[in-house]
Amino acid sequence: MGIRKDRFGKTIEGTAVDIYTLTNAQGMEVKITNYGATIVSLKVPSRHGEPVDVTLGYDSLEEYLRGSYYFGCIVGRYANRIAGGKFALQGKEYTLVKNEGNNHLHGGIRGFDKVLWQSEKPVTGAVPGLILKYFSRQGEEGYPGSLSVAVTYNLTDENELKIDYEAQTDQPTVINLTHHSYFNLAGAGSGDILDHILTILADQFTPVDNRLIPMGELRSVRGTPMDFIQPTVIGARIEQDDEQLILGNGYDHNWVLNKEEGALALTARVFEPHSGRTMEVHTTEPGIQFYSGNFLGDQIKGKGNQIYHRRGGFCLETQHYPDAPNQPQFPSTVLEPGEKYKQTTIYHFSIAS
Ligand code: GLA
Repeated sequence: MGIRKDRFGKTIEGTAVDIYTLTNAQGMEVKITNYGATIVSLKVPSRHGEPVDVTLGYDSLEEYLRGSYYFGCIVGRYANRIAGGKFALQGKEYTLVKNEGNNHLHGGIRGFDKVLWQSEKPVTGAVPGLILKYFSRQGEEGYPGSLSVAVTYNLTDENELKIDYEAQTDQPTVINLTHHSYFNLAGAGSGDILDHILTILADQFTPVDNRLIPMGELRSVRGTPMDFIQPTVIGARIEQDDEQLILGNGYDHNWVLNKEEGALALTARVFEPHSGRTMEVHTTEPGIQFYSGNFLGDQIKGKGNQIYHRRGGFCLETQHYPDAPNQPQFPSTVLEPGEKYKQTTIYHFSIAS
């Protein structure tokens, strides 16, 4: 039921980096560093006693500075891919940094995951909260407009990790923020996530081409391995000879959520059968990237010297659709001066009885 600040380490330039520990009355604990606004650990109570850390990550700041998997970070200015690293806005073309073949991915080489955020005085009391702010200058990674971003992490006594995002710009720009924790509800490092049972409340998804860029179509999930309307084991169909699964190396797609635009609603649920641990995702966003950890190398040394393997964690990244700046039929990601960007996502943990 509080918040504590400790030193995490120093950047290569010698700047001090902090780590905050938020705890609630149920024994849940989250550690967040202001480097990348990153969740370093997330301990959730279990049916059998001691809380278990359910997110993948590293023990030290040095490893985060070297890391390339986006463990636990906030992704921005634009999460996911922008085709060709360019887009046009109000008649002007902008060229972004390309960091995945010809694509711009997750905000570029030095996205919001690789910068230091400034912390405001933390909120203590019943719902401990941490506010982290970042000022992204005009031209950073190629984006127009200077953007002020604030991310607030709260931990409630209902075992909810709540993330509120806000941003404002001084020129028209594009924005798509998300959170990139890799979860393993059996415990980080305990094996793969293929036996977790997933529900995604979405009738459609955005199929991709061989660049993992949406083709523009909203396709029905019916009769495909993308159908998670009913609770389904993640591994049940992942190796099927399905064009989209082959292109994605597994699941790495955006689902079009069945919800009212802008409303905060339940959109996904994951259940780990051995521990009974359950995570529900509520969001205001129109889409969710379900990524089954396909690019995780097979020998990553994670926290506590544990080895993470391919598909050792999954991400549920609440977002606008990938490449929306080039696909006008998708919900808009344009932010104008005078407007406020807002998104809220809640990860709610519980134990099934
Ligand atoms: C996202 C992408 C994946 C991959 C990971 C980071 O989820 O969709 O393709 O780039 O981030 O490794």
